[in-house]
Amino acid sequence: MTDLTSGEPDLPKIGRVGVVGGGLMGAGIAQVAAQAGLATIVRELTEPLASRARDAIGRSLARGIEKGKLTTDARDAALARLTFTTRLDDLGACDLVVEAVVEDLEAKNALWRDLHPVCAPSTIFASNTSSLTIAAMATASGRPDRLVGLHFFNPVPLMRLVEVVRTITTSAQTFDRAMTFVRQIGKQPIVARDGSGFVVNRLLIPYMLDAIRALENGVGTVTDIDAGMQLGAGHPMGPFTLLDFVGLDTVQRVAEVMFDEYREQRFAPPPLLRHLVLAGHLGRKTGRGFYDHSVDPPIPSSFDHRHPEER
Ligand code: 3HC
Repeated sequence: MTDLTSGEPDLPKIGRVGVVGGGLMGAGIAQVAAQAGLATIVRELTEPLASRARDAIGRSLARGIEKGKLTTDARDAALARLTFTTRLDDLGACDLVVEAVVEDLEAKNALWRDLHPVCAPSTIFASNTSSLTIAAMATASGRPDRLVGLHFFNPVPLMRLVEVVRTITTSAQTFDRAMTFVRQIGKQPIVARDGSGFVVNRLLIPYMLDAIRALENGVGTVTDIDAGMQLGAGHPMGPFTLLDFVGLDTVQRVAEVMFDEYREQRFAPPPLLRHLVLAGHLGRKTGRGFYDHSVDPPIPSSFDHRHPEER
């Protein structure tokens, strides 16, 4: 059968999903795909990393049961649909491969170059990049018409949005299949232009950087700025809680890519962010960022970023 409007052959809905990278985002994407009934295979670089991804998904599913969102049968069915591998060749039968590897264009393009000969011509490649443009991966993918952006949000199982990014070479059929896939896994798609940061990070990153600048300028304390945005603007988390949640290194990296792209001051990482990253205070994952997470509830970290004469 052929789609009479596009002239492209009709292809089935996505049934088998590959996820490359089993970190926070990759594990979340694999979890939601498996929960939605899709056979899902996760590729990690080493066995220990693959078992870490499996454990993370197991813990997240267990929390879903605790919260009454998931039955044990549904958890078992999701886990049965999930496989893990260290071999890229095992992704050959996937209808869709989503990459969630390190936020580095060369790493992503090297992956696409290796994956292209392994996968069927009909396989869609999707990048979960938060800041790079999808068009920058078109040539390396070997299939610019079957390449899209699928930008998920952290924590993937709880955040309802996925940005679907269409480049000037993405075919209508690929775009439709990607939109259908997002709905299939129970998420709400929005369409975003292929510009660094898409819709959400273009607004969210400057917001978080502005909060740091407000702190640097003595506008308020970490706790007060967080309370201000949580209680006064209805945000689920204040900006510093969110910064620690996303990871300060991630925010800095995304901001740097966006600054390179737009050359606008609002995307420039402020000095305090750089200093915390240099100190290894990356947020929740290292136990310390704008908050000290070694205590429950976390308390604001004690650092004095003011000039000695201001103290
Ligand atoms: N499985 C299924 N459901 C779960 C669950 C799990 N593992 N854990 C929690 N839930 C459910 C709860 O039952 C609850 O459902 P309800 O609303 O029906 O009662 C809901 O999810 C919220 O859970 P909690 O009450 O435990 O948690 P909070 O209310 O504190 O919310 C949060 C947690 C959803 C993380 C919220 O604080 C939030 O939305 N924070 C902002 C996160 C955000 O902005 N993310 C985007 C970051 S930027 C990004 O990712 C882009 C990247 O490119 C940088």
